[in-house]
Amino acid sequence: MKKKKTIGLILIALAAALILLGTAVIIRVNSAISKPKGEAAVIPDNPLLILVNGDYHIPDGYSANLMELDNGQRIDKRIYPDLQKMFDDMREQGYSPYVREGYRTGSEQKEILVDRITDYMQNGYSPIKAYNQARSEVAAVGNSEHQLGLAVDINPYSGSPNEWGVYPWLAENAWQYGFILRYPEGKTDITGITYEPWHYRYVGKEAAKEIHSRGITLEEYSLG
Ligand code: DAL
Ligand code: ZN
Repeated sequence: MKKKKTIGLILIALAAALILLGTAVIIRVNSAISKPKGEAAVIPDNPLLILVNGDYHIPDGYSANLMELDNGQRIDKRIYPDLQKMFDDMREQGYSPYVREGYRTGSEQKEILVDRITDYMQNGYSPIKAYNQARSEVAAVGNSEHQLGLAVDINPYSGSPNEWGVYPWLAENAWQYGFILRYPEGKTDITGITYEPWHYRYVGKEAAKEIHSRGITLEEYSLG
């Protein structure tokens, strides 16, 4: 009888320890998700060159000067004329691009990150592994260029002519309109983000030309 009671107490203690451990992991992951990472980014003389990544977050009080596109996506007004010209030229050449995502609020960024972490956890990753994997694909809250309004995810309309030509076209030509492929293949150790053929960042034509011709990232351009 006494033995049964002891086993019962041990099981209760084990269950309590597991609950505590689980709660600690959840609190750790939740606080990792909600806080911006690194230092506040310094706004350079040319504000279009602001560097936001896993080390530099959007400074407090930063406000994007937004406008709405026909499909409801929002972007910083300053990128509109060159984006429109680029899309006009692409359409003339037989491509059908659209902005799948422009500006995101912090809560939208958080939702995307949480969804990605959840997907990985459902696929058997531990919370920490799921967080790290998700973070190589989705920026932390406060550390996403989408929150600046200066980045756009450009996709082809599904089933459109030249559908898969859109990404190569952008990689070759977007610099002429002031956009750079922000997360190129083979540069993950520098950008912290895996290859994203759809994510373009506006930096203006002068910087885009140099970044493209030297085959460098915004990190290398800004930090040397
Ligand atoms: N997918 C890019 C890195 C972002 O979340 O901003
Ligand atoms: Zn993006």
